[in-house]
Amino acid sequence: MKKVSLTGIKPTGSLHIGNYFGAIKPALELSKEYDARYFIADYHALNQVKNPEELERCIREVAAGWLASGLDPEKVIFYRQSSIPEVFELSTMLMAFTSKGLMNRAHAYKAAVQENQDKGIDPDTGVNIGLFTYPILMAADIILFNSDVVPVGKDQVQHIEMAQDIAQSVNAAYKTDVLKIPQARITESVAVVPGLDGRKMSKSYDNAIPLFGPEDQLHKLIMKIVTNSQGVAEPKDPDVSQIFLLYKLFASQEEQNSLAARYREGGMGWGEAKEELFRVVNRELSPLRERFNAIMADREGLDNILARGAEKARPIADTTVKRFRKAAGID
Ligand code: TRP
Repeated sequence: MKKVSLTGIKPTGSLHIGNYFGAIKPALELSKEYDARYFIADYHALNQVKNPEELERCIREVAAGWLASGLDPEKVIFYRQSSIPEVFELSTMLMAFTSKGLMNRAHAYKAAVQENQDKGIDPDTGVNIGLFTYPILMAADIILFNSDVVPVGKDQVQHIEMAQDIAQSVNAAYKTDVLKIPQARITESVAVVPGLDGRKMSKSYDNAIPLFGPEDQLHKLIMKIVTNSQGVAEPKDPDVSQIFLLYKLFASQEEQNSLAARYREGGMGWGEAKEELFRVVNRELSPLRERFNAIMADREGLDNILARGAEKARPIADTTVKRFRKAAGID
């Protein structure tokens, strides 16, 4: 039997090319080797997004984004967290095995408290219980599906460790392997994707290139990439150029060699390098964008895919919850 990989995607904004290379592509790769599960963590997003139109749009966009990027819903299980009530049942059960001290140490919660303390205000200001128990809900997501590996970025490793701790507490209490202990699989194959300003591409830095934006927007953003003031004639070092770093993600080896040579020769200005970058980015993203738009236009089709995914997921979830309830004496 294949091992299980599972990853959750929080629908809190539109996808950008940093998400594509840093998370989507490596996670989809795993479906070759693992029994892969992907889900939209919409109840996690609810902590942040309180505008219903926005949340609905984010859920659909993120779902369509994964499908457009190549997720095959026939071969994997693809569902919305909110369609699986067992997640919330398991989450409640896990709370009985989670110490408050463990949650106190969670990075996101600690940062929120620290920010308040720095301002000299009540440490609980603006901190909701959903943020505090975020790692428990995430542990439930993972444990429910008997996940062996969870592909995540470095920022999520602590959450996986907490899921391990919590599952181990359950197994220790009942002196048997009720729950599978998950392992983090850190995706570091791809270097940090640089944003328009040279910092890591991130929604929060406002320096991202959207994955599915229209072609003219893509062109405009690429032309806005910050460069130094070297003139056209000057030879340039490709290895320190953001334009070139992005180019490497989209161009063939031959194209990379040829552009690197042109950088070093001199005679090519930044404008021309950007046009060449736009050409290869658009070449890869055009078909993705078309698929994305087609999926977004077919509401019912997308709903059906997600409903079918939930149908496949629920029997697995049910088995885990039943096993736990039985071990706990709540049969
Ligand atoms: N916390 C993850 C993030 O912000 C999203 C997430 C929720 C998740 N549940 C998960 C990731 C379970 C992996 C497994 O990116």
